[in-house]
Amino acid sequence: MQHFTIAIDGPAGAGKSTIAKAVAARLNFIYVDTGAMYRAMALYFVREGFTSFNDESALQSICAQAQITIRYEEGTQQVILNGENVSSLIRTEEVGKQASIISSYLPVRQKLVELQQQLAREANVIMDGRDIGTCVLPKAQAKIYLTASAKVRACRRFQELKAKGQECSLEEIQKEIEDRDYRDMHREHSPLTQAEDAVLVDTSAMTIAQVIDRIIQIAGEKGLHEDNLWK
Ligand code: DC
Repeated sequence: MQHFTIAIDGPAGAGKSTIAKAVAARLNFIYVDTGAMYRAMALYFVREGFTSFNDESALQSICAQAQITIRYEEGTQQVILNGENVSSLIRTEEVGKQASIISSYLPVRQKLVELQQQLAREANVIMDGRDIGTCVLPKAQAKIYLTASAKVRACRRFQELKAKGQECSLEEIQKEIEDRDYRDMHREHSPLTQAEDAVLVDTSAMTIAQVIDRIIQIAGEKGLHEDNLWK
């Protein structure tokens, strides 16, 4: 008996969280959204007006001040920053951009990777992010690299924002997505890259239901069966 872990990595807007959430519900796994942790840390940096990125000890110290924890309410992950539930404050485009910037710094990554690894020791998890299969859970039984063309990802994001009644331009969204991809893929520490043993799933022409089925199929091929799950 052992915990089974599914690692999903991929660029911004590939649908990782929608898919991972649905797969978690189907398999009765815990869903861990690691991007939300980087977003909470980014929120803290912004609130503190932190700009001393070249000062290693200042970076260490601000990371030590930000206590980030996770809790689940009716199966949904909540991110707690120094006692405050910030889950509804971290979903903006601006916080996403700031998260991409601060996530390139090693002290930030070290702190959050430790928390992520701890969560994976405690349950069957499906965890999504940028470095899960390569760094956080290199021994994950199933690894998926979920992607879609930048154009498709921008269109999906555009529709989402429009549905929420937010004014936006498709061109600007695509440019922001491409900038974020570039930063996440070219940073020094744990850049976004497909793990050697990850299965590539390009969702450009797939429906959400098809992607969910494909992930569950991959997990089955990698040894996930009802009777070998740690309950
Ligand atoms: O998945 P997301 O958009 O919520 O992630 C926000 C940013 O956080 C992303 O652009 C890069 C960073 N991130 C990371 O560096 N490593 C992770 N495992 C998850 C997110």
